[in-house]
Amino acid sequence: MESEWYNVWSVVSVTLSIIGVYSLMAFRKPKPIGEGINFDEQSVVTDNELLVRKSQIYERSDPLTHLFTDALTLDQVLSRGSKESVDGNCLGTINKKSNSVDWITYAQVLERINNFGNGLIHMGLKCGQNTFIGIYATNCVEYVFAEYGAYTQSMVVIPLYDTLGPNACRYIINKGVMLTHKGIISNICAVLYQMGDEATNKNDTMLSFLPLAHMFERCCQSAVFMVGGKTAFFSGDIKYLPEDMQIVKPTVLAVVPRVLTRVYDKCHSNIKGSKLKEWLLRKAIESKQSEIERRIIRKNSIWDKIVFKKIRNGLGGKVRLIVCGAAPLSPNVLEFMRCALGCVIIEGYGQTECVCPCTLTLPGDYETGHVGPPLPCCSIRLESVPEMEYFASDGKGEICVKGPIVFKGYFKDAEKTSIVTQSDGWLKTGDIGQWTPNGTLRIIDRKKHIFKLSQGEYIAPEKIESVYSKSQFVAQIFVYGESFKSCLVAVVVPEVSVLTLWCRKNNIRGTLRDLCQNKDVKRAVMNDLLGVGKKEGLLGFEQLRDIYLHYEAFTIDNGLLTPTLKTKRIEIRNYFGRQLEDMYRSLD
Ligand SMILES: *[C@@H]1O[C@H](CO)[C@@H](O)[C@H](O)[C@H]1NC(C)=O
Ligand SMILES: *[C@@H]1O[C@H](CO)[C@@H](O)[C@H](O)[C@H]1NC(C)=O
Repeated sequence: MESEWYNVWSVVSVTLSIIGVYSLMAFRKPKPIGEGINFDEQSVVTDNELLVRKSQIYERSDPLTHLFTDALTLDQVLSRGSKESVDGNCLGTINKKSNSVDWITYAQVLERINNFGNGLIHMGLKCGQNTFIGIYATNCVEYVFAEYGAYTQSMVVIPLYDTLGPNACRYIINKGVMLTHKGIISNICAVLYQMGDEATNKNDTMLSFLPLAHMFERCCQSAVFMVGGKTAFFSGDIKYLPEDMQIVKPTVLAVVPRVLTRVYDKCHSNIKGSKLKEWLLRKAIESKQSEIERRIIRKNSIWDKIVFKKIRNGLGGKVRLIVCGAAPLSPNVLEFMRCALGCVIIEGYGQTECVCPCTLTLPGDYETGHVGPPLPCCSIRLESVPEMEYFASDGKGEICVKGPIVFKGYFKDAEKTSIVTQSDGWLKTGDIGQWTPNGTLRIIDRKKHIFKLSQGEYIAPEKIESVYSKSQFVAQIFVYGESFKSCLVAVVVPEVSVLTLWCRKNNIRGTLRDLCQNKDVKRAVMNDLLGVGKKEGLLGFEQLRDIYLHYEAFTIDNGLLTPTLKTKRIEIRNYFGRQLEDMYRSLD
C-alpha cells in the first residue's frame, strides 16, 4: 500500500501533449495571499540600545495576550469552540471497520470533561494548583477528557511521553517546565493572528498524530478548539498514517520535518531513472515556484492535476495549511512541498520554555532558510556571544525572548531557572540567530557550553570530550571546569570490557565499583587519556588534571541524558558535585 501511496507518476500519461500543457496553464489564477503585508520589513526595532525587535504586523507596543475575551484560559477554549461551531463536532476516533471517523460534539466533550474533573474530586483529590495530574497516554479522546478535566478543577497537568520508561517519567515529574494558561493562550492567539486569513477556522479538520506530550501538538489542538474546528486522532501507529489520512481527510496538519522529508524522498526515488518523469517534475516545480513567488497558492493548475495529484491525495487531498515545527526543515523539501501540495506551509521556531513558537513565517513568504519574524506575543533580541564571535551589533547573537509566553521556571530548580532566564525577564534560548535584511530570524548555530578558566583561556568542554572519547577506556566522559579554577577535571564512565580486560592482565580483582576506585586503574586510564589528548593536539590547559571513574553510565533513566541522548551538563555537575569538589581540593 505504502509504496503505491506516493506514486505520482502512474497518472502521467506518456502521450501527454506538452503543447497542450502550456496552453492550459494560463487560465484561472486566484489572487495572491498576504496582500498589504510588507514582506521586506517583517519586524521593527523597538529599543535601539538592546536592539529589541517585535512583529511588524501587530501595531501595539505591548505583547498580544489574547484575541477573544471568552477564551482566556484553556478550559474556556472548548466552551468557545462549542459556541463558534454551534455545537459542531469536536473530537474524532478513527473507526477501522467502517473506514470512517466517529465524531463526538463539543457538548459531549464538555460533559465528559466535567464528569472527569468531578470524578477527580470525588476520588479525594484537591481542586487547585497544588494537585498535579500526570498523563501517560497516546493521542486519543480520553487524553483530552483527562487534560481538560483537570483544568476544570484548576489542577496542573504534566504530560508524559508514552515512549519513556518509568524512571525518566519520574524525573520529568520532578525537572518539568512550568507554563501558565495565560502564556499558552497568548501564544496560540499570536499564531492565529499572524496566520491572518489563513488561520485555522471552524471548518477545519486536524489529524492529530504528533505526541500530545509535546507542546507543539497541544497548542495546535487548542488553537483548533478555540475557533471551533475538529480534531481526529490517528489510529495509534504511525505506520498507518497514510490510511488514516485517507479516512480523516484533514485540512490542517501539524508536522515535524521528518513527515515532509519522507514524502519528498519517496517522490524522488519513484521517478529516479526516468528522464521523462524527471523533466516533467522539473517543469512542474518551475511553474509552480514562479506562482508561489507571486504568492499564489493553488492546487488547480494543470501541473497539480497531472503531476502532483497523487502526492496531494496521499495526505487525504484536502490539506490547506501545514505548520511545521520542532526541528529545522530543509529548504529543498519546503520548496518542493509548497509546490506539490499547493497549500500554505509555515515554519515556526521556539522551545517549551516559551510555550511553543516565538517566531513563525508569514503565509505568503516564499523565502526559505529562515523562521519568520517574532510573533506578536513576544519581543526578541540577540545577545552578543563574544567567545563565538557573534555580536548583536552585526545582527547576530544568542536568541533571547521576552513576553507573556516565557515560562515561570523549572519545577523546584531555581538554579537552573536563573541560568536560562535573566532577572529582567529575558529567556536565553541557547540558539544563535541572525536577523535577515527582511527582519526575519535565521537560526545559524547553537551556543556551545563555553567558559573561561581563571587564567583567561576559553574552554569548549564538548570539543574536549569528543577528543577524549577516542580513548579505548572511555564509554562516556564529562569534562568540567570553572572560571575561578585554572584547570579541568572529568567524570569518566569506563568502557567495561576494556577495563576488565586490563584489570585481568594486571591481576586486579573486584566488582566494577571496586575497580573504579583502584588507584592503579585510575592511573592507567588517566595516562591513556593524556596520550590521546596529546596525539589529538589538545593544548596544555585543555588537558585534564584529574578524573573520577564512575561505575554507572549516564542514562535517560537516571536523568543524566536528555531523551535525545545529549549530556545534561547541569544535572551531571550537580550529581557529581562532591567528587568534582574533592578533585579540585586535592589539586589546590
Ligand atoms: C526579502 O524579501 C524580498 C521580497 O519578498 C525577497 O525578494 C528577498 O529575497 C528577501 N530577502 C531575504 C534575505 O529573505
Ligand atoms: C465555512 O464554510 C462555510 C460553508 O462552506 C462558508 O460559508 C464559510 O465562509 C466558511 N468559513 C470560513 C471561516 O472559512
